[in-house]
Amino acid sequence: MIASKIAGLPWTKIHDRLWTLGYARLGQLLTRAQCEETRALYANREIFRSRIDMARFRFGRGEYQYFAYPLPPLVAELREALYPPLAVIANEWMPALSLKGNFPADLSKFLDHCHARGQKRPTPLLLHYVAGDFNCLHQDLYGDIVFPFQVVFCLSRPEDEFTGGELLLVEQRPRAQSVGHVVNLKQGEAVVITTRYRPAKGTRGYYRTNFRHGVSPIQSGERFTLGIVFHDAV
Ligand SMILES: [Fe+2]
Repeated sequence: MIASKIAGLPWTKIHDRLWTLGYARLGQLLTRAQCEETRALYANREIFRSRIDMARFRFGRGEYQYFAYPLPPLVAELREALYPPLAVIANEWMPALSLKGNFPADLSKFLDHCHARGQKRPTPLLLHYVAGDFNCLHQDLYGDIVFPFQVVFCLSRPEDEFTGGELLLVEQRPRAQSVGHVVNLKQGEAVVITTRYRPAKGTRGYYRTNFRHGVSPIQSGERFTLGIVFHDAV
């Protein structure tokens, strides 16, 4: 069901948006019920491998938890279904970024590579913010193997359940000032963002811009987010 919805997304348009912007909206992939079921998992501590208090590490304010394996079925299904079309784009990006790497067509083979290199811990996560919380600009790099895309799902209803808390992307350009992007997501809506770089076309081939992402302070209410990172962590 989710897999067929993902297969039916306008991948040509998503491809073009990733190349030109560094992120692409995927539209509403989860129903309200799926969002509510997924965020309800947050209270279930035994299905997570670790919990991070962001203030403790000065990552921001608020907390998040990384799921343990086996991932909840919906999270596993999203990760498996989103990976293959993104791997095709990732393989186009690597030479344009002057990076080595060839991503296999399916997630299990990619994870075999991660695990063989010591990146064995699962990285999909649930984030929970309340008023005053925020997430500093960062990149989710957890080892040498980096899949160039990750997907963010908003699980709460903006305006009804929270205000503020926009997803922020900052694109640093070489020898130029940075560009800021704001992505407001509705409940169930997803966006694919670059993990680290975007290949930008210059007069002499491609150069890299460097992206960091974060969340602006929540003004009121609470916001849950699901993050799907594809590479595992050391
Ligand atoms: Fe992140």
